Amino acid sequence: MNPQARIKELTDLLNHYNYQYYQNSVSEVDDFTFDRMLEELTTLEQQYPADRRPDSPTQRVGGTISKEFPTVYHRFPMLSLGNTYSEADLIEFDNRVRKGLNGDTYEYICELKFDGVALSVTYEDGVLVRGVTRGDGVRGDDITPNIKTIRTLPLRVKADGLPPVFEVRGEGFLPLAEFERINKEREDIGEPLLANPRNAASGTFKMQDSAVVAQRRLDCFLYSFLSEPEVFQTHEESLNVLKSWGFNVSPTWRKCGTIEEVMAYIAEWDTRRFELPLGTDGIVIKVNRYDQQRELGFTAKSPRWAIAYKYKALAASTTLDGIQYQVGRTGAVTPVALLKPVLLAGTVVKRASLHNSNEIQRLGVMLHDTVFIEKGGEIIPKITSVDVSKRTALCEEIIYPTECPACNTRLYRREGEAHFYCPNEKYCPPQQQARFEHFIQRRAMNIESLGEGKIELLIDKGLVQSPADFYELTSEKLLGLEKTYEDLESGKKRVVSFRQKTVENILNAIERSKAQPFANVLFALGIRYVGLTTAEKLVDFFGSIDALAAAPLESLTSAPEVGPRIAQSVVEWFSDTDNRVYIERLRLAGLHMEAERKIVEREGSALEGKTVLYTGTFANFSREELEAKIAANGGKLLSGVSKKLNYLIVGESPGPSKVNKATQLNVPMISEEEFMRLIAG
Ligand code: IVH
Repeated sequence: MNPQARIKELTDLLNHYNYQYYQNSVSEVDDFTFDRMLEELTTLEQQYPADRRPDSPTQRVGGTISKEFPTVYHRFPMLSLGNTYSEADLIEFDNRVRKGLNGDTYEYICELKFDGVALSVTYEDGVLVRGVTRGDGVRGDDITPNIKTIRTLPLRVKADGLPPVFEVRGEGFLPLAEFERINKEREDIGEPLLANPRNAASGTFKMQDSAVVAQRRLDCFLYSFLSEPEVFQTHEESLNVLKSWGFNVSPTWRKCGTIEEVMAYIAEWDTRRFELPLGTDGIVIKVNRYDQQRELGFTAKSPRWAIAYKYKALAASTTLDGIQYQVGRTGAVTPVALLKPVLLAGTVVKRASLHNSNEIQRLGVMLHDTVFIEKGGEIIPKITSVDVSKRTALCEEIIYPTECPACNTRLYRREGEAHFYCPNEKYCPPQQQARFEHFIQRRAMNIESLGEGKIELLIDKGLVQSPADFYELTSEKLLGLEKTYEDLESGKKRVVSFRQKTVENILNAIERSKAQPFANVLFALGIRYVGLTTAEKLVDFFGSIDALAAAPLESLTSAPEVGPRIAQSVVEWFSDTDNRVYIERLRLAGLHMEAERKIVEREGSALEGKTVLYTGTFANFSREELEAKIAANGGKLLSGVSKKLNYLIVGESPGPSKVNKATQLNVPMISEEEFMRLIAG
């Protein structure tokens, strides 16, 4: 088959698999095969860039860097909706609609009001050609490469009777589960957390590197269809057709014949909306028939045929008494609002997150201001606005610190980042404390019996300056230590004291931690950007701390999923003498500093001293079985084709890049049968 035909075949097949997977939840191929086909298509597209189709599934994984997004005009302006919070307003809206339609009968479509980012996506001849943000409603940013990473958004629509050009609109969002996953990962590597799913989605859509966007699995619910001339009679028909064309239409909409049915919908979703994968802040009510929508028309800002009913957020007002600046493990400074205690949704709220200095500016908040706070999807309440009418002469401007509140070192801000950082990594007390906490967590050294104020006590008493000091603690040093703390959250006094039983528990846990595998130890070191998953990858690739410490930048970036940012951070960490000493102390304490060798039952030595790699699928072995066979016969598995490779085992539908490279480098290629004969001697 010629390359052009193969590109077409792979594009169609992969798009079909994607469609089945994302729209119908059917997996027609296993991940491995899918990845290999995608890899083949990527290679072919690199060789024949002119033949890459605009609907190529390779776009899903990004790869485009946009310095600036072009501004484009919307074909039809993107209007906003009138808002209401009361049922009385809805009845008035219904009366206006009835009057406007001169007694004609009408129906409504009710939908949820999704809390994300409004998007407009244009298709020409069924192919996604452009994705644009709402912007000011008249013009928005062309963010097509980022839009293409949304896996539920078809890159090509195949259906009869498609208008040559049409536009769909909807709400782009970061699913809550995805938001939590990203924040968990950020917490792991000591990065400041994303404030909330909506801001995170809007920030992600505007990122310049679409490959990074692709890693954050954005999604999108569609709720409008536009074409000229109009092809549908009703909004209901649009939603049904959009769904049948493979668009992600939330199944939560309902047709309502009367305003009472609308009220019932509102009441039902008041609680059920929390089951959805994204935040919602109300519902949208739209007149169903398009001819009636036209008849009702628009005001200057919004349609007369639609209205948004907003659920009342759980809100309260209180005063901002002060700001505490917290310093995290990597030195990021996060401002926290200290509030006059107020009851909100059954709990007393005293603190609210302010995220960063930009947020303080955005709110325009001053010290002692009266502020509104709300509880959204997140657990920590947030300040939503300032009650400027209550501002007095006693209110003071908030002066963001220029020095670390804990150690007085001058703060700095990295290009393009919202947070300020304290650079005094080693000696800044809260950074030290957070490093200890990172070290003892379950997924690191698992010494959690040292939590809850015990580390503070050890630091206060001068018993630990580095986590390596944990391994020199003895019951003599610990027994009888005691201190009373005031809990910031509750204001209550708390006594931390080391009695016999506590000391035994701590020392046992420290002893047990020595058995933690090397990947957990590596994670525990707290190297910036090295989360547990990255630590596992590094351990698989390098095998030992010595190999990792000696690895130059190029060798690090050749490890799977290690980019320049992680590589640079690892190199810097190991070039620090104090860190080298730290490792030696941990090694002396008996911590694992290399991967445990998998115990291999030897079958033979046909591959003794030989390096092997495989590509494709095999009739007699799964990947794991094949790898085990190679090891059992003395072979060493390599991660890529190089001159050092002795054999490339080629299975069914092999990866073309590996085969091409092996051909270029004259690496011997053997079939599955030949491999079996080889090991059989
Ligand atoms: S329809 C002319 N439907 O709300 C009105 N909008 O205030 C077109 N939104 O910018 C919008 N869920 O970002 C519509 N089911 C829904 C919606 C929805 C959320 C957002 C959208 C729009 C804003 C209007």
